[in-house]
Amino acid sequence: MMVETVLPAPSAGPTLARHLDVRACVESFDAALASTVRSTLAEVETELRRRVVAPGDPWLSEAAGHLLRAGGKRLRPLLVILAAQTSRPDPARVLRAAIAVELMHVATLHHDDVMDNATLRHGVPSANARWGNRLAVLVGDHLMAVACMTALEVDTHLVRRQGWTLTRLVRGQATEGLALRAGEDAVEQYLQVASDKSASLFALCGWAGAACGDADEAVAEALGQYGEALGVAFQISDDLLDIVADPAASGKTRGIDLQKGVRTLPILHALAAGDQHAERLDEILARGAVDDPALRQEALELLRTSPGLERSYEDLRKHAAIAENSLARVPEGPARDALLTVSDFVVRRTY
Ligand code: IPE
Ligand code: IPE
Ligand code: MG
Ligand code: MG
Repeated sequence: MMVETVLPAPSAGPTLARHLDVRACVESFDAALASTVRSTLAEVETELRRRVVAPGDPWLSEAAGHLLRAGGKRLRPLLVILAAQTSRPDPARVLRAAIAVELMHVATLHHDDVMDNATLRHGVPSANARWGNRLAVLVGDHLMAVACMTALEVDTHLVRRQGWTLTRLVRGQATEGLALRAGEDAVEQYLQVASDKSASLFALCGWAGAACGDADEAVAEALGQYGEALGVAFQISDDLLDIVADPAASGKTRGIDLQKGVRTLPILHALAAGDQHAERLDEILARGAVDDPALRQEALELLRTSPGLERSYEDLRKHAAIAENSLARVPEGPARDALLTVSDFVVRRTY
């Protein structure tokens, strides 16, 4: 059975290319696990939409549901569910933890789109494009508030971890694009930003899933480390997709990292290649943000044909392999196998 017939389909936005949609992976899981995953994700979907309703405020309720209805892979809830399934989970806690992490994620997307001046998200106008920055920030705040209240329904440990995660995420977002400090290496800075702004939430997913079951401390730690490495791989894949993906499939505008003047890993590797492409790219990037659409197209073409692209793919595979190795300390079984499938998905989705 196709998973899309079970999960409530996004009501707007494009149909994501199957290789970009993690839900296609569920088909290859062990049958019993796949059935648990499908039914839990379906509950997550229903509950997400129910929980973001702000009683007595139809506008906020409508705006808070805008991006949730439009799409999203629900990769983070999937990670919580799979991490939980490596031991004996409490289904009610798993559901709440999965909702809490997705709400945190969608809240940060609202704020990120304001910071990046992004106009397209999940194939529909971003909240800032539709209602302006001020209201988009407030919708993000509302979603984060619901995320906190949902985490509290799991326990106070999750709320504390949620707080640490958000502090890292804020630090990552704040550091992105800053001038290098004396002696700081650009790739090192990139990896630190990727860890903080993205991998922090993936690490929380691994840890939270474990905490919803009876996993011991070492296993919870290993699942957190899996999430951390997978999150870095995921950010590298996202930065590659910003260069190579069809916007109809990704639901986001291509070249936005160039537009915001951020030197992502593929850009850094292309600049370091030292060839003619690098020289021209350096010229285009000299003034920071690449506002001119024609220059952005040229830069994208240079990036796509640079030897630096393959170096980024190598780094992507390296971080996915680190994630996979972390699973050595997790009990063998269908859930661990599924976590391997997910790390493979993060690599494959960029090809
Ligand atoms: C986008 O994450 C933000 C990053 C960390 C790069 P996703 O690609 O997982 O967002 P969804 O699936 O559209 O919600
Ligand atoms: C943002 O990274 C990660 C977040 C903390 C939301 P990006 O800016 O690359 O994410 P996208 O490409 O807009 O989804
Ligand atoms: Mg962005
Ligand atoms: Mg991006």
